[in-house]
Amino acid sequence: MAAQELNAIARSIVADHKGILAADESTGTIKKRFDSIEVESTEENRRAYRNLLFTTPGFEDYVGGVILYDETLRQASDDGTQFPELLAAKGVVPGIKVDTGAHELAGHPGEKVTEGLDGLRARFEEYHALGARFSKWRAVITIGDGIPSDACIHVNAHALARYAALSQEAGIVPIVEPEVLMDADNTVERCLEVTSRTLRAVFDELDRQGVALEGMLLKPNMVISGKGCPTQASSSQIAELTLDCFLRHVPAMVPGIVFLSGGQSEVEATTNLDAINRIGGPWPLSFSYGRALQASALQAWKGDPANVEAGQEAFLHRARMNARAVAGDWSADLEQAVPA
Ligand code: 13P
Repeated sequence: MAAQELNAIARSIVADHKGILAADESTGTIKKRFDSIEVESTEENRRAYRNLLFTTPGFEDYVGGVILYDETLRQASDDGTQFPELLAAKGVVPGIKVDTGAHELAGHPGEKVTEGLDGLRARFEEYHALGARFSKWRAVITIGDGIPSDACIHVNAHALARYAALSQEAGIVPIVEPEVLMDADNTVERCLEVTSRTLRAVFDELDRQGVALEGMLLKPNMVISGKGCPTQASSSQIAELTLDCFLRHVPAMVPGIVFLSGGQSEVEATTNLDAINRIGGPWPLSFSYGRALQASALQAWKGDPANVEAGQEAFLHRARMNARAVAGDWSADLEQAVPA
């Protein structure tokens, strides 16, 4: 598809301070989330939970795209409308996670490479027919003693670019997600160094493989301290280092940067996004959050149909708070405010 049409889709997803809901938890990951609220992970419970999210009145004011999992793309809402159709009718672009997960990288203990390229062209054709207009592929880079290796960064960048080229060929906007994990005890400076190396390699490969930068979105981690680091960077430090890194490595032609939350709490993810947007850059700087948009909604719902409205309120609140952060006009007191 022409890069111009891909560009129009990408821009519509992040228009008007909107972001993305990552609801593409694989069957294994959603089980972990359901375990935390003691709900059994059956196909029907997964459908009911996604139904709660996607039928939330008004969420489309803050969310321009939803990433679905293969199973979810094929499921329908309570009234029988297929989820992609339901979302599209609200002006929310349906997306699809297409990688098949991160697996151990041979010869590199502790490092991973994302799989899913085999047969991907045919899968993209089917996903397009089912209504997907954007897609996601997540690469995982782990910080540790002597890692990440150049090999790990290189193979992941290569796979991201191969995926992105196939996605664009199918008329589907790729979301290129190279995630530097925040689970270790590294400093923020080390995260800056690894994120810089990773982004350099990713854009090098995207260029080499002819991916149209104007027809993609980038989904990166923020430059942030590892969870176990005794000194935690402040949100203004995170904002400064994140923008410094992205200004150096991400071409201005990319139509949007949508951060992952990566294990930050809901309010942390909003605070940091707001700080980033108070500085700003040449691209829309928005969110593509999974946990940071869903944690309190899951807790409110707990699998009980009587709590659907409470779950929807919690989700809508987070979506609204993050859209305010994209505008750079969020403040902590809004968290207490009664929803309008
Ligand atoms: P988190 O925001 O929970 O990190 O999830 C985003 C995502 O899609 C990871 O691939």
